[in-house]
Amino acid sequence: MVRSFAGSADPRFLEVMSSLVRHLHAFARDVRLTEEEWQHAIDFLTRTGQICTPTRQEFILLSDVLGLSMMTVGINSPGGDGITEDTVFGPFFVQGSPRIDLDGDVAADTAGPPCHLSGRVLDQDGNPVAGARIEVWEADEDGFYDVQYDHGELRGRGHLFTDDEGRYGFWSVVPAPYGIPSDGPVGELLTAAGRSPMRPAHVHFMITAEGHRRLITHLFVADGPHLSSDAVFGVKPSLVVPFARHDPDEGPGGRQLADDWYSAVYDFTLARETTSTAPIENPPGGG
Ligand code: BEZ
Ligand code: FE
Repeated sequence: MVRSFAGSADPRFLEVMSSLVRHLHAFARDVRLTEEEWQHAIDFLTRTGQICTPTRQEFILLSDVLGLSMMTVGINSPGGDGITEDTVFGPFFVQGSPRIDLDGDVAADTAGPPCHLSGRVLDQDGNPVAGARIEVWEADEDGFYDVQYDHGELRGRGHLFTDDEGRYGFWSVVPAPYGIPSDGPVGELLTAAGRSPMRPAHVHFMITAEGHRRLITHLFVADGPHLSSDAVFGVKPSLVVPFARHDPDEGPGGRQLADDWYSAVYDFTLARETTSTAPIENPPGGG
């Protein structure tokens, strides 16, 4: 059966499919898979596909909770040289986010206390990367992304470009912990395993710049719940940062805050480009 792929003209296809079939068969032998269990698995995968929509990607979710997404991230991460670590992409990226200026606001009507995030984008040698495109997206204080509501508006997401010194800065809301969608087959799997669907509070970043490897990562809020039990195994200590609370005051960009607000500072370091990456218009699994 493994040899049935040998006619392929694509050596990588042959390598991947041969290995997949070998491991799949070894797995079935290992657990002595029953026909009922095989049928159950087919039904599970069928329902996983059926629940997918342009804004609900249950297969990415399945890959995430099985740890396959983070395994793939790890295998392909350059690492070292102070390069910022990548983490899971998740299913809630959306093309066409609004552009904001430096110190602009991506919150739109996202519910939650205001939060300013800033820092620099640097290269491996510590030089500023000017004109890097930074995409950010995050959930509201109730733990839902804009695409999980019916309002049809882009909220809590946007993009901006670093200035000549590699600086970025934007307003959003302070991130809150939330549960990944658990009303579908992936939720059944978590329940059967006695696992929590919760993720620690975080903001998503995707940073692209000419001559550099695309960085897909998060910043996590230090000292928050679920940092050691992330449902999708995405936490890396280097990405956990303190968020400071401030009394009502004038904030960055001259914004007047009538209530408490928060801030965090983080510098990203991009890896040098060694192989070509897909253009930003085609991110992995982008909804
Ligand atoms: C997220 O952080 O948006 C996410 C990641 C993996 C699964 C579900 C959500
Ligand atoms: Fe998220």
